[in-house]
Amino acid sequence: MTRTSLGLYGLGTMGSALALNIADNGHTLHVSNRSSSRVPEFLSEAGDLKGNLRGHDSLVTMIDAMNAPRTIILMVPAGKPVDDTIDQIRRHLTGGDTIVDAGNADFNDTRRRTKTLEAAGLNFIGMGVSGGEEGARHGPSIMVGGSKASWDRLRPVAEAIAAKHEGAPCAAHLGPDGAGHFVKTVHNGIEYAEMQMIAEIFGIERSAGRPHSEIGRMFDRWNRGPLKSYLVEITGTVLGATDHLTGGPAVEEIVDKAGQKGTGRWTVIEALKLGQSASVIEAAVGARGWSSDPARPTAAQTLPGRSDAADLPPETLEAALIAGRIVNHAQGFDILAAASKEFRWSLDMATIAEIWRAGCIIRSAQLDTFAAAFRAGPPKGSLALAPDMVAMLKQAVPGLRATVAAAVTAGQPVPALAGALGWYDTMTKARGTAALIQAQRDYFGRHGFDRVDGTDDRHGPWWRD
Ligand code: 6PG
Repeated sequence: MTRTSLGLYGLGTMGSALALNIADNGHTLHVSNRSSSRVPEFLSEAGDLKGNLRGHDSLVTMIDAMNAPRTIILMVPAGKPVDDTIDQIRRHLTGGDTIVDAGNADFNDTRRRTKTLEAAGLNFIGMGVSGGEEGARHGPSIMVGGSKASWDRLRPVAEAIAAKHEGAPCAAHLGPDGAGHFVKTVHNGIEYAEMQMIAEIFGIERSAGRPHSEIGRMFDRWNRGPLKSYLVEITGTVLGATDHLTGGPAVEEIVDKAGQKGTGRWTVIEALKLGQSASVIEAAVGARGWSSDPARPTAAQTLPGRSDAADLPPETLEAALIAGRIVNHAQGFDILAAASKEFRWSLDMATIAEIWRAGCIIRSAQLDTFAAAFRAGPPKGSLALAPDMVAMLKQAVPGLRATVAAAVTAGQPVPALAGALGWYDTMTKARGTAALIQAQRDYFGRHGFDRVDGTDDRHGPWWRD
């Protein structure tokens, strides 16, 4: 890439942070924004990095000022704004130019845009960027989908700005068209589930009457052990924080309704379309929905509930989260494997686990183990069946079971932890209750079933005279 051919449009929080990161890594970057007044403001915030930045009043003037072949990074909200921006600039671009959508796009949109733009001789890259504002500024994890040729051009910049894990850049070309955005979507689904399981454990500890600061210290301790991860780390910090107005725990001053922009929901939708069920992610998305259900305040007044103390030793809860984390990631990677097969992406699970080891929101010490397990090739391609995971699950599942049992008895909601255990208990039985589902289906719809003895008799006695 020539040094003057890189541009970024959209100087919001993430766009600004990414632009400063690019400039900080010695690249010259053209920048513009929908509202042009943001450009001089951004340049003055850039301080010494201003020398590497070229501001423009509009996206079109920016494109005109750039040398071809250009690479334009879009940092605009997902959905219509991306299509509108592409429509606005298409006729100003020339063959060989590349548009990079660095937002959290629906991969179906990315596939559609890739097809249209490639037909017009342009390149399109769907680039998942994880790490929040801090990550975008100092080193995110970067998941790229697009043609190999356009990746070759973007690669030096992407690798320079990405987080490093023991010196290796957490940026990779994962496959064509929507592969990068799909992997980022599943990353976010896993993120939702990790957050939910942590929140459920907080709820259990709070029910037992432990002060927030003490619960925070428990997470701090966990962050020095096998659960070391960004989300456990920030939970410790958040729970230790006091509100500046009340002096009480800051978290209790926050309205108890979880927001969501959609990536967790997309993960569940796409998983189900692929015939996969990620019970932990599903539970996490559902729990966010329940939290803001308008009927909840009335239900809380009307329905007889139960809210007893679930008093469990921290080691039991720690084991529960270790087991939950393994199941959550195993399910996430199963979704990726199903998508890879369906869309012929040849996703490399080891590479994905490796670029999630630093920079992104779900970074954790366990991702190192997951990456090693994928490098070694787990049985049936399933992370949960890798020898190290089998050993860890053997140790940790009793804690998960004790936690779910105690929480359920006390009336403390643990949908995500229970979702992990439900999957585990189903998968660990060669014969469960699906045969009854088959019998019911045959009974009401003559759907037929396979017999254990292999004989070709596909209907039950209820269809015989
Ligand atoms: C990341 C985050 C980032 C963002 C999510 C939050 O990887 O950096 O996942 O993408 O924080 O979009 O999603 P919700 O608003 O849906 O929680």
